[in-house]
Amino acid sequence: MGDSHIVEKFDVMLNELQEGMLITAYSGFGPKYVLIDQKMCQFVRHNFKDCKLVVARREKEIKIQSSELQEGDTIVKIYDFPPHLAKLAKVNPQLVKALKYRDIIQFDVKHKAHLADDSRRDLQQIIQLVNQSTKQPTAKQSRRLEAIRETNELIRKVNESVKVRKDVTDSVEYAMDNARRGHNDISDIRRYVNKITEDVSADALAAIASIKASDQTYAHCVDVGVIFQNVYNLILEETGKSSAFQSQNESILSAFLHDFGKSQIPKDLLDSTVRFERDSKEMRVMMAHPFYGAKLLKEMGMPDSIVNMAHYHHVKQDISMLSSYPSGCSYDKVSFETRLLSIVDAYQALVGRRKYKRSWSPPATMRYIEALSGVEYDYEVWLKFLKIMGMFPKGSLVELSNHSIGFVVSVPLNDGDPQRPIIAVVRNEYGEDLEHHELVDLHESLDISIIRDLDNQEVFGSNALDVFMGIEVS
Ligand SMILES: [Fe+2]
Ligand SMILES: [Fe+2]
Repeated sequence: MGDSHIVEKFDVMLNELQEGMLITAYSGFGPKYVLIDQKMCQFVRHNFKDCKLVVARREKEIKIQSSELQEGDTIVKIYDFPPHLAKLAKVNPQLVKALKYRDIIQFDVKHKAHLADDSRRDLQQIIQLVNQSTKQPTAKQSRRLEAIRETNELIRKVNESVKVRKDVTDSVEYAMDNARRGHNDISDIRRYVNKITEDVSADALAAIASIKASDQTYAHCVDVGVIFQNVYNLILEETGKSSAFQSQNESILSAFLHDFGKSQIPKDLLDSTVRFERDSKEMRVMMAHPFYGAKLLKEMGMPDSIVNMAHYHHVKQDISMLSSYPSGCSYDKVSFETRLLSIVDAYQALVGRRKYKRSWSPPATMRYIEALSGVEYDYEVWLKFLKIMGMFPKGSLVELSNHSIGFVVSVPLNDGDPQRPIIAVVRNEYGEDLEHHELVDLHESLDISIIRDLDNQEVFGSNALDVFMGIEVS
């Protein structure tokens, strides 16, 4: 039998922890544990329930129960982990990672005497996990670094784009109100279209559109516009197909204006919280918006490519369907761009919250549209849309098999498995919201998978976009 003699060590640093050690106290902390704020106070009380603490309070060190922690205390030591928190004491790579996120850096430990010799290899592995290797990165590491860079870049762009989305939504509303009064002026929208194509990322705006519910006609137009622009550009890039539009600006404008005919529908009907029956008078009025849109845009001298989108975006491949209108219109008249727009339109309408229904998660929406493609939507166009959006579009909130929760930040391209995107984990398996977010590349981490998609509003309420915008990975 090996030596069962127990060794105790104090002030062991994070990168000296080894599997097989038992932590008896957390004894060194990062700066956010100094003069703690209310959030940190709650975090410690909650996560270290029934532990003992040494804190500095009014320049005196005192021993307290975690429940007695107060704002303004400085945490010196957390110890005496009760049995239900045993997982916070047993050293394993996952705990080491969690401690690193939490900025807990020093420990008192105990272990069996022979540990140091037996688990030198474990030690090396853990150190590697914790500290970024200084050696030349492997292909896997390069992929990871690239994913980190891309994620932080996406989040930065999302932060920049939020205000533009609001401004452009206001300008769409303004233009439609003007059109309602018989005055067609879209110069303001044009100005924002320029801004979007020049300064703002349609990719970032499209991610916002998948997270933030847009409960009104105007934001719907903007969200459809940016998703359309983003997907259409990538399709052109990939297929070498030439654009039906004269410029990038025109293609985004066309999608912004697809529901412009709604400016001829009374506002109380547009803003109604009631869902209209298919054959009601109200529904018939609503179903005239493609006709009005085409008429208005023609009068404004818009090219056929734009008019086609306003006119035919509700025509289904199976034109005998009641939901296909204008009725009797042949599907041959519907351009490729309009067919794509109708998919984007359906995607956004389902993901965006309406007053009379809950919003759908992006993956549930993708599955729904997939089921209808070939009947309502052009199957070939759907495949192109799917290839770019992925089954889990950027911004989808999902639960992983290890019960952590995160947002999709990157979609597998080309031959990547569409079920295995890159996730930024924002809440760990213990239900704690993370401040430093972990990137999980499901292409690499084959032991983890997505087990369900979540409604971001249900999980984070109206803060979902803020949580997404706060993502920071390193
Ligand atoms: Fe429409
Ligand atoms: Fe629409």
